[in-house]
Amino acid sequence: MILEEKYTLSNGIEIPKMGLGTWFISNKNVVNAVQEATKIGYRHIDTAQAYRNEKGVGEGVRSCGLKREELFVTTKLDAGVKSYKKAVSSIDKSLKKLGIDYIDMMIIHSPQPWTKFHGDDHYFEGNREAWRALEEAYKAGKIRAIGLSNFLKPDIDNIFESCTVKPMVNQILAHIGNTPHDLIDYCSDNEILVEAYSPIAHGELMKKAEVRNMAEKYGISVPQLSIRYCLQLGLLPLPKTANPEHMKNNMGVDFVISKEDMETLKNIEPLKDYGDASMMPVFGGKMNLKSLFKMVAKQIKG
Ligand SMILES: NC(=O)c1ccc[n+]([C@@H]2O[C@H](COP(=O)([O-])OP(=O)(O)OC[C@H]3O[C@@H](n4cnc5c(N)ncnc54)[C@H](OP(=O)(O)O)[C@@H]3O)[C@@H](O)[C@H]2O)c1
Repeated sequence: MILEEKYTLSNGIEIPKMGLGTWFISNKNVVNAVQEATKIGYRHIDTAQAYRNEKGVGEGVRSCGLKREELFVTTKLDAGVKSYKKAVSSIDKSLKKLGIDYIDMMIIHSPQPWTKFHGDDHYFEGNREAWRALEEAYKAGKIRAIGLSNFLKPDIDNIFESCTVKPMVNQILAHIGNTPHDLIDYCSDNEILVEAYSPIAHGELMKKAEVRNMAEKYGISVPQLSIRYCLQLGLLPLPKTANPEHMKNNMGVDFVISKEDMETLKNIEPLKDYGDASMMPVFGGKMNLKSLFKMVAKQIKG
């Protein structure tokens, strides 16, 4: 059963092969989502400072009835934190908000602040500073594993140049219709596990006839096909839902996509439109104050 399977990170720590995404689940609703997910068998929860729900995730973790060590909790250092000093206090704030003694994994959310996402400025120095703070917290036992998110090859190389602890993961956008094979290969060549965020393309894959037809052929749902696709590529998918029926559906991935169908899915026409979410930097949108405000309002509403 997928929820019981694990990958081993480069530092020897085990991480459940699939996690529950919590982006756009409010602080209030995420408590119940974590409780339901853990009842179903989920052991890995993905949050971020930017999701404004660390408090609720922590409450869910503490009240779900499982021992702390049975769960794997990931959070992310805000994309705007690009100094050592700010990173140190930010890590401590996450620990406090989550209300837990240690964080299983903390990753830098993005090499650039959201308004400059994947722009020309790589914030090399700021990322090395943030990384130094993560390394210190790791060595102090506050965090069991540290990593990156949205880092491209030059951003990863920048960390390699000065790190004393190598990044253990890179969490990137990877789904049917958008699979950055070169970056994935570069990460695996360097013992960096790739986590696939938005594995269902934020829900958009369900609208794609080609994907729907293939799911139908296997007698499964589009999310199941999407999650299985990531797993067969050796990635760690993080499907988001607060709906227990969807949580149960998403764990039904004990089937195999044929080699031929994997090739078809790898070569499917790239997805260009992420619907309402297209304004998000991670989906190619430009973040301005108006969209930032809209995003925060949506997050608070849950
Ligand atoms: N590091 C980063 O920069 C970054 C960026 C984006 C995302 N992430 C992480 O990745 C996670 C997942 O990405 P995402 O939230 O963009 O989207 P996603 O997981 O690709 O898709 C979520 C959508 O799929 C629907 N869904 C899920 N399971 C379903 C099922 N079995 N049947 C029908 N619908 C289903 C959800 O609806 P319901 O909610 O109604 O179930 C929601 O609309 C995030 O929550 C976050 O933890 C990280």
